[in-house]
Amino acid sequence: MNRHASPSLTAKAIVGGVASSQRHDSAHKHVTGQAVYIDDMPEPAGLLHAYLGLSTVPHGAILSMDLTAVRAAPGVVDVLTGHDMPAANDISPTHRHDEPVLATDKVQFLGQPIFAVIAETREQARRACKLAKVEYAEEPFVTDIRDIDRRAGKLVTPPLTLKRGDAQTAIEAAPRRLKGTMRLGGQDHFYLEGHIAMAIPGEDMDVTLYSSTQHPSEVQHMVAQVLGVPSHAVTVEIRRMGGGFGGKETQGNQFAAIAAVAAKRHGRAVKIRPDRDDDMTATGKRHDFVIDYEVGFDDEGQILGVDYFFAARAGFSADLSGAVTDRALFHCDNTYYYPAVKAQSAPLYTNTVSNTAFRGFGGPQGIVGCERVIDEVAFALGKDPLEIRKRNFYGTTDRNVTPYHQTVEDNIIHRIVAELEASADYAGRRQAIAAFNAGSPVLKRGLALTPVKFGISFTATHFNQAGALVHVYADGSVHLNHGGTEMGQGLYVKIAQVVAEEFQIDIDQVKITATTTAKVPNTSATAASSGTDLNGMAAQAAARTIRQRLTDFAAEKYQVPADQVVFLPNRVRVGNQEIAFGALTQQAYMARVQLSATGFYKTPKIHWDRDKGQGTPFYYFAYGAACAEVEIDTLTGETMVERVDILHETGRSLNKAIDIGQIEGGFIQGMGWLTTEELVWDAKGRLRTHAPSTYKIPLASDRPKIFNVTLADWPEAGEPTIHRSKAVGEPPFCLGVAVFHAISDAVASVADHRLCPRLDAPATPECVLMAVERLNREAGRPA
Ligand code: MTE
Ligand code: MOS
Repeated sequence: MNRHASPSLTAKAIVGGVASSQRHDSAHKHVTGQAVYIDDMPEPAGLLHAYLGLSTVPHGAILSMDLTAVRAAPGVVDVLTGHDMPAANDISPTHRHDEPVLATDKVQFLGQPIFAVIAETREQARRACKLAKVEYAEEPFVTDIRDIDRRAGKLVTPPLTLKRGDAQTAIEAAPRRLKGTMRLGGQDHFYLEGHIAMAIPGEDMDVTLYSSTQHPSEVQHMVAQVLGVPSHAVTVEIRRMGGGFGGKETQGNQFAAIAAVAAKRHGRAVKIRPDRDDDMTATGKRHDFVIDYEVGFDDEGQILGVDYFFAARAGFSADLSGAVTDRALFHCDNTYYYPAVKAQSAPLYTNTVSNTAFRGFGGPQGIVGCERVIDEVAFALGKDPLEIRKRNFYGTTDRNVTPYHQTVEDNIIHRIVAELEASADYAGRRQAIAAFNAGSPVLKRGLALTPVKFGISFTATHFNQAGALVHVYADGSVHLNHGGTEMGQGLYVKIAQVVAEEFQIDIDQVKITATTTAKVPNTSATAASSGTDLNGMAAQAAARTIRQRLTDFAAEKYQVPADQVVFLPNRVRVGNQEIAFGALTQQAYMARVQLSATGFYKTPKIHWDRDKGQGTPFYYFAYGAACAEVEIDTLTGETMVERVDILHETGRSLNKAIDIGQIEGGFIQGMGWLTTEELVWDAKGRLRTHAPSTYKIPLASDRPKIFNVTLADWPEAGEPTIHRSKAVGEPPFCLGVAVFHAISDAVASVADHRLCPRLDAPATPECVLMAVERLNREAGRPA
């Protein structure tokens, strides 16, 4: 489409309003290489490059650091240590002072940044890093929480307990009970664009940063803290990330701080970009968990009481581990009502990189633990797990209070699951698979249908606010800015659709601009799937302010009542005449009408008392379900995903094309987490899986052979969200759980579904093979 075409003045509808499947604003630029990422920006004259020097032991005091050879290496301009941070060597996002920019006296994981080299070229900086001579007094270390007493380990941040009723009494009184333990692996973000920051020094205290971050305001505050300057001196801008997935919520602070410090020291622009191996070694990941569970239930499979203990590998510092493990507890109920429940978290200190946000933010771990319990109950009773799931669903008018005492008011899981069960022909395929397996000794098929309920809002209530800035130029074109960041999820185009809709102008008339702390201050991370909900409302408010001013102006100028000023597609009807939008804005400008406005939004209704473990932390829930069929090879443990059907709720979708992309991408990423992505630390504390050669993300060929995604675009969506749409960024990640349970079902078939396979995640081929052999053994069969 010609972007300079003038909008049609007779059109019945605008191009790119809400509910249109407008393509991602940068889709064509992503695929043609024209999208500018930070490393693609023209480099300022005199640009210097920084690189990180990493520790080579997992725990110990730094006795000495001899950097003479580093300083003498070709092209090296400077070497920074933690002592060179002008005001504070501290980038701990929760202000616990447990995370230095560069470690000075002790190191707490192998790969921790201890110095930074500044050189004329990136290659020179990288090579010089290898020349450091560092002496350590090594101390004992722990990398894996399976090696410690999880109930007594050192915590990085206070744990949470959720409680409703008396779980232990309920479990003891139940006709049946069982307990178990599950291990659940972590995950590397594997964004295509790794971490990067470029700092350009300005006059006085000023510095401008281009930072690949989901949280420009935090980078701004951290850099200001490290430099010892007011926030006003630091400007952080980001047009787009090549993926964030939570990995750029806090982890960009370190790179930005180093670039900024070096830039101010030398009066030259500085860029820092670790290679993939160092990015994977030195930045945090999804938390792996060990989940202990005990459940009491009746002969029909109704859960009567449940007790969970969620232990997580937090790494060496708090980072976001408190909030992540809290969210695991908030999702240990998934779509199920527990008459009595207790759930505890344990964010455990380990000598590993500090784990951080990752799509779902602990929620998926909670759901996986919960679905394991469902599986256990089903196997104990010899019933189909789907029957147990349905039996325990939250009610719509009763049995609807969560472990954190929020009442579920918008429950649509019964309808979602019923429709998916029918459209995916669950019952028919269950039979067909049983027949297939009976005649197939080596290849075994499995089927599972798993639901998702995901809580929407930041659980830290104050983050649930957003701002926007809208300018209408005299020619009627619009400049849009807001606090949300674009990481590929389509936030920018959705917000542009909202603004186009308010003014009734084609989306081409709305200029999407880079997120910057100079335009909208004190923003929250683009996270918790809330980007559109929050920023969409703020941008709408700003646009409405300007539209109201235009309405008032037109009414006065043309002497008509305000209700006779109507915004039609690309034009405004004023009384009996129609005026092009751009002509009206020109007239308004001449009459000195202010055509710029800010907008603000804060989520209503929510509150949370962490000490009591009670409140309404979520504005609403997003629901969905997936049905997966897999085939495993019992001789190699390999899995093929044959077919996946998804029904996922989006409310009145702002953009179905974008939402389907989020659902497909989220599902595949969740599937990768639970099947092939495995992080391995060796006995020396080294992460051995730090490149695509050793860490396997899903390939295009791993996607389901048949992949049906349907939106539950139902109008009765609960709360008044932006155009009644629902957040979609993270919830579909949890749909990948269906693949894990389908694998479990396939494995169970080798012992006629009499034994629960108790798979750990990820269910790699090795893990599947060992489970098959164990079940064969336990069932008394030759392997
Ligand atoms: N989609 C793409 N393509 N790239 C990403 O980095 N991040 C996910 C999700 N979808 C991500 C993505 C995560 S972790 C979150 S919290 C949301 O997008 C954030 O954006 P939103 O709030 O606008 O949905
Ligand atoms: Mo998403 S983990 O909240 O950035």
